[in-house]
Amino acid sequence: MNPLLSVKNLKKSYGKFLLNNLSFEIYEKEMVGFLGPNGSGKTTTIKLIMNSIQKDGGEIIFDGKKIEKDDFTFRSYIGYMPESGTPYEFLTGREYINFILGVFKVKKDEKKLDELFRIFNLKEEKKKIGKYSKGMKQKLLFISAIIHNPKLLILDEPFNAVEPQTAFLMKNILNTLKKDGVSILFSSHTLEIVEKLSDRVILLNDGKKVAEGEIDKIKRDGGVEEFFKRVIISSEDDDNIKKIVEIIKE
Ligand SMILES: Nc1ncnc2c1ncn2[C@@H]1O[C@H](COP(=O)(O)OP(=O)(O)O)[C@@H](O)[C@H]1O
Ligand SMILES: [Mg+2]
Repeated sequence: MNPLLSVKNLKKSYGKFLLNNLSFEIYEKEMVGFLGPNGSGKTTTIKLIMNSIQKDGGEIIFDGKKIEKDDFTFRSYIGYMPESGTPYEFLTGREYINFILGVFKVKKDEKKLDELFRIFNLKEEKKKIGKYSKGMKQKLLFISAIIHNPKLLILDEPFNAVEPQTAFLMKNILNTLKKDGVSILFSSHTLEIVEKLSDRVILLNDGKKVAEGEIDKIKRDGGVEEFFKRVIISSEDDDNIKKIVEIIKE
């Protein structure tokens, strides 16, 4: 089976930081958890896939076609939830979604939007986004990622600041979409969610892929937290914990 998304030898440098020859694939109908400490390069990778920043090397192939520098046609097949919210704080929720649909030439549907706002209990959709709480922004971004029925969802920390009932709703939607054939790549620091949702996990550290594994195998070996700890957390951390406790007790 051909992958839906192939990332090959991806490179990007920002001063000292180097995303170094990152390669991975996302197949049809799979949900992949993207893990790594702060600053390990998850958001950079996601932005490179979305073509919103320029890469320094490598290639990205979506649905058999290489994504070229100024080509955004692929965006109508991908649902994207950025990490840092939206810069369009002066728009209302409804205006924002219609704007995004317009940019990617997807047909607007006010009825569909009404239904989604109702289900997500986004009553303040008419308020300017600048006045939304963080959780409300996340709901809006999630709706804008799924509304056009994409083949691939790329979600950068989608559960961050989301209330439990909405997180529950989002997880169920993602599982249902996956069964319907959608592929999903999502980053998260919540290891329990990653363990529950993912079929496979990719772990970055300092711009490099340091581990990758099937969730069933990871669970047999002690779970996602163990997987993360084995690779990322060194014995120095035990010493640091002792030091911190000593410092604050002084
Ligand atoms: N626009 C930028 N200019 C300079 N450095 C950046 C920029 N964006 C990200 N970085 C750096 O790239 C590294 C990776 O960041 P990021 O991809 O956001 O990590 P993550 O999402 O895994 O927390 C960090 O060292 C960050 O400071
Ligand atoms: Mg990030």
